[in-house]
Amino acid sequence: MKPGKFITLEGIDGAGKSTQLAWIVQLLQQAGCATVVTREPGGTPVGEQLRALLLDKASNMHPETEALLMFAARREHLDKVILPALSRGQWVISDRFSDASFAYQGGGRGLDTQKLAILEQWTQGSVQPNLTLYFDVPVELGQQRVSLIKNADRFEQEQNDFFQRVRAAYLDRAQQFPQRIKIIDSSLPLNAVKAAVAQILQKILKHG
Ligand code: TYD
Repeated sequence: MKPGKFITLEGIDGAGKSTQLAWIVQLLQQAGCATVVTREPGGTPVGEQLRALLLDKASNMHPETEALLMFAARREHLDKVILPALSRGQWVISDRFSDASFAYQGGGRGLDTQKLAILEQWTQGSVQPNLTLYFDVPVELGQQRVSLIKNADRFEQEQNDFFQRVRAAYLDRAQQFPQRIKIIDSSLPLNAVKAAVAQILQKILKHG
């Protein structure tokens, strides 16, 4: 059977990924693709428990512990959800994947990217998304959107400079992998962002 494709969504908190997720699923289903929607950290029973720990404001952990738990959840996610779905021919759309570790733990927390690359190699070998949509917004706009959420989690409560570093790391990653990571200007009006997403998806649906 023809394997499905693996699409990941990335962006700082408040970039508008969740809104676009529903749109992406709609476009893929209209094109006749079977879809599996999932998220990181999480997506499996063990992963969701790790997520609860990672997002809990009461969890005080070393940045390397945080990185290790992110990759631990990812290992489980690949094994239980992502790889089986792809081999069944389904399209997997994941709300975040390893670029988030490079952006948040690498950029935000300042961890050595070499160490993250070792974890990435260990956890996923050569598995990479076929397409990553990076929703780019100025940090101030992302923070404005997040401040509408009443109960900010451990990451959302970080300050402006943290998110500036996260954003810079995402942009850096997009520059390193221009074939895979597409930057979408998510500060544009909703319909313009949706149109940009649709245009990119048409290409992958047509040409693979
Ligand atoms: P998020 O997609 O923002 O969840 P929600 O929309 O429900 O708030 O993801 C949770 C947080 O986890 C987000 O702030 C980024 C962080 N994160 C990392 O720091 N590293 C990672 O590798 C991943 C996958 C997420």
